[in-house]
Amino acid sequence: MNFKVPRGTQDILPGQSEKWQKVEQTIRDLCHVYRYKELRTPIFESTELFQRSVGETTDVVQKEMYTFEDRGGRSLTLRPEGTASAVRSYVEHKMFGQADQPVKLYYTGPMFRYERQQAGRYRQFVQFGVEAIGSADPAIDAEVIALAMDVYASVGLKDLKLVINSLGDKETRDAHRTALINHFEPSIGEFCSDCQKRLKKNPLRILDCKVDREHPLMTSAPALTDYLTEDSAAYFAQVKSYLDVLGLSYEVDPNLVRGLDYYNHTAFEIMSTSSGFGAITTLCGGGRYNGLVEEVGGPDMPGIGFALSIERLLLAVEAESVVLNIEDGLDLYVVAIGEEAKLKAVELVSSFRAKGISADMDYLDRKMKAQMKAADRANAKFVIVLGETELEEQAVNVKTMETGDQAKVEFGQLVQYVLDKKA
Ligand code: HAM
Repeated sequence: MNFKVPRGTQDILPGQSEKWQKVEQTIRDLCHVYRYKELRTPIFESTELFQRSVGETTDVVQKEMYTFEDRGGRSLTLRPEGTASAVRSYVEHKMFGQADQPVKLYYTGPMFRYERQQAGRYRQFVQFGVEAIGSADPAIDAEVIALAMDVYASVGLKDLKLVINSLGDKETRDAHRTALINHFEPSIGEFCSDCQKRLKKNPLRILDCKVDREHPLMTSAPALTDYLTEDSAAYFAQVKSYLDVLGLSYEVDPNLVRGLDYYNHTAFEIMSTSSGFGAITTLCGGGRYNGLVEEVGGPDMPGIGFALSIERLLLAVEAESVVLNIEDGLDLYVVAIGEEAKLKAVELVSSFRAKGISADMDYLDRKMKAQMKAADRANAKFVIVLGETELEEQAVNVKTMETGDQAKVEFGQLVQYVLDKKA
């Protein structure tokens, strides 16, 4: 029997996981700078939470959720995204009562969607997301967008495009909804059965249908921006002027609608424009979701956020041939010849590690030459060779691999010597 990872999932092996750690650390540092605090929520939630927040008629809820019944008969779902959980947590822990609003949260963790596997699209993927809940100030919209752009800039990506749109307020959406129904209804027979259901329930969803993407009525569909109320248009104008102040360039795309139901006002996506990037170019998506907190049982608190997947970020890193600055070399390798030397090696390795010096040794009783090769492969900065003479003299030559310099150091001084050399 040959076991393989389930379709749409992947193992992140050593060699690759260092890149993940580097990116995750960059993200944590940035969140600290922007003062977003980490929220950790369960991997599964009640199914109803996603139905209510993400939306019954979305592809995510209708086709992509990993839903199961637990032994107590409850319907649970592996989270397909993080906003619903963050908002649930904000309400459950009454964060709306905190003196400091907006509450600025971030999360990283696996999300699950039963999607068709292709480059950049997985069934388990890791999202980093932020949610700023409790403010309807357009300046926070700009802050959230700036943070997303900063993530990519901090890892060294350049080929990016920021696309924004406004989905307006309820009045905007109602007027647009009517226009969409009028537009699609006469020809709805030409659309897939899902779209036929969407027509009356949620016609906006027709616009991101993957099946009917090429239908001519898609491009001629009424744009939401034409229905923006005065207030919504003013809000959008303010968001844009804050983005201008921040020096962020953007494109306004009236067709940007997003695939989840909770959005209104600001919606945005960040795409990779690198020629080496695959077919799926969206790296990040987000927007405002005023009304969602109420929908999940809390007070009327506005919110905005985004999420991006580390998988797609790393694909962009590859496409742009960005070299992540990963410091992963070994500090010191102890070569030991003979049983007595090995005893000493175990002791020394442990004393190096106790001082934070990364150290390793041979566990296969290999010959000296093979041990030296292992030290080389590990990219060790220093190598010491322990044999009978060294044990007698209670001192050993420390070789600095980069320069080839050697210095004889007493056992008692070794740790300090390496610490000084490393500094
Ligand atoms: P989303 O657009 O569904 O939004 O996903 C955000 C990002 O997650 C995408 O731009 C993409 O980078 C990544 N992503 C989504 N699906 C996959 C997949 N199958 N494989 C790899 N990466 C994927 C949300 O999830 C919202 N919760 C974002 C948000 C937060 N809005 C407000 N706050």
